[in-house]
Amino acid sequence: MAADFGANPQALTQEYAKELDTQDPLRHIRDEFLIPTRGNLKRKSIANDTESSTPSDSTPSTYLCGNSLGLQPKRTRTYLDSYLSTWSQFGVHGHFKEMQDAKTLPWVNIDEQTSEGMCKIVGALKGEVAVMQSLTANLHFSMASFYRPSKERWKIIIEGKAFPSDHYAVYSHLSHHNLDPADSLILIEPSDAETHYFGTQHILDTIAEHAETTALLLLPGVHYYTGQYLDIATITSFAQSKGITVGWDLAHAAGNIPLHLHDWNVDFAAWCSYKYLNAGAGAIAGLFVHEKHGRVTKNEKSGVLEYTPRLSGWWGNDKDARFRMERDFVPMVGAAGWQLSNPSVLDCTSLCASLAVFGMTDMGTIRAKSVKLTGYLEFLLHNWHMGEADGAYSILTPSNPEERGAQISVRLKEGLLETVMEVSEEEGVVVDERRPDVVRVAPAPLYNSFGDVWRFVSVFERALKVAIAKKKKKKKGSSSGGGTMVDGPSKEKGWGDVT
Ligand SMILES: Cc1ncc(COP(=O)(O)O)c(C=O)c1O
Repeated sequence: MAADFGANPQALTQEYAKELDTQDPLRHIRDEFLIPTRGNLKRKSIANDTESSTPSDSTPSTYLCGNSLGLQPKRTRTYLDSYLSTWSQFGVHGHFKEMQDAKTLPWVNIDEQTSEGMCKIVGALKGEVAVMQSLTANLHFSMASFYRPSKERWKIIIEGKAFPSDHYAVYSHLSHHNLDPADSLILIEPSDAETHYFGTQHILDTIAEHAETTALLLLPGVHYYTGQYLDIATITSFAQSKGITVGWDLAHAAGNIPLHLHDWNVDFAAWCSYKYLNAGAGAIAGLFVHEKHGRVTKNEKSGVLEYTPRLSGWWGNDKDARFRMERDFVPMVGAAGWQLSNPSVLDCTSLCASLAVFGMTDMGTIRAKSVKLTGYLEFLLHNWHMGEADGAYSILTPSNPEERGAQISVRLKEGLLETVMEVSEEEGVVVDERRPDVVRVAPAPLYNSFGDVWRFVSVFERALKVAIAKKKKKKKGSSSGGGTMVDGPSKEKGWGDVT
């Protein structure tokens, strides 16, 4: 349940944020991560260059960008060193060699370790997850299996503001089947155009409208733009009751929100591991295939193997027969049977390091902190005394904690974004922008503190004030016909440091 911060008269103070941090049951996990220092963020080279990195810059930055790229766990380097040592010492034997001090299973089995760890995070049964490829690639592989248009059912429903890659993937499948998007692609537009909010009933109504002709529904678990968390269970069950196959893009949901993909009877899902899963930029991704679709059976009469059709590769073949080099494809049972290539062990090792950090807690505890942390961010954004910056922004993300994860999307008044981002960067606050006017702020519960959230809002207030002043100056300059040059934020005076 959401905490009632408003009941405490001290709730806007930094002391209160610090007090919340002392009560945080996950505070020790922050220490598992490497938080870029403010000095490092200003460096011009990776190697230590003392010129641009002063000792006072060694304070951790306020990193609220785990929705884009999660931070590096400290143990990632140890795991990767171990991988590199194995490779350098044993070469090809690394595939099979069991070492006493190894951080992972031998490479030939490393995908089992990653898949098992992922199952816990997304609520899958053992065998329902494969760690493979990348998110968009996995959407393609899923659609190759689960989008089987017929004369009666051929449409795909997605949402109108879907991440572009999902649009492109869906378009390409329609085109692959010689279908015209004009009468094959149904876009669910937000029920509230202003906030981009998708009401569940609105989604269900659109599904119902096209129910008889739709083959596939593909939606995001958590929306990348607003952070809205859709009701996966209700939507999946409703669409399936109409005979529609249901897939989810969980890029912003995996590692953010407790998922129950098996119990929700989701047909398939795909996600990346570089956001809340902290496995590193572009790291290997996840694919969920429900148990019911992963079965491999032998037809008693014909002796022919029966299984869901797929794009196949040798890594999806029966493991015992993998090195026999036989021609017939005998898929492994479960999601593993969708694998194609031997996975990048570098990626898998990095993911194993991150999964070990997740193993220090559980998704329920992570979620409980997340609800409180994001709620605190929302509380501060609503109640902070912004002075002349009052009314300069609004919140797009739903206010109901049940309808969001670890992200608040803030929409700024026109013409403020660029300066707000410049000032934030200057102050060592890392958030991300969606042009023309949205700032996404993501307090990741594994490593962010209440102090981070407090500091963000404090810097945000000042960034807004600089942006407003700059805008006014510009307006004045243009109305007097002067074309005045305006100073950048780094030249503004009176910027006390806020920790
Ligand atoms: C919601 C969503 N879908 C798809 C993608 C594409 O991911 P990838 O580049 O890993 O395929 C992203 C990337 O951020 C995303 O946020």
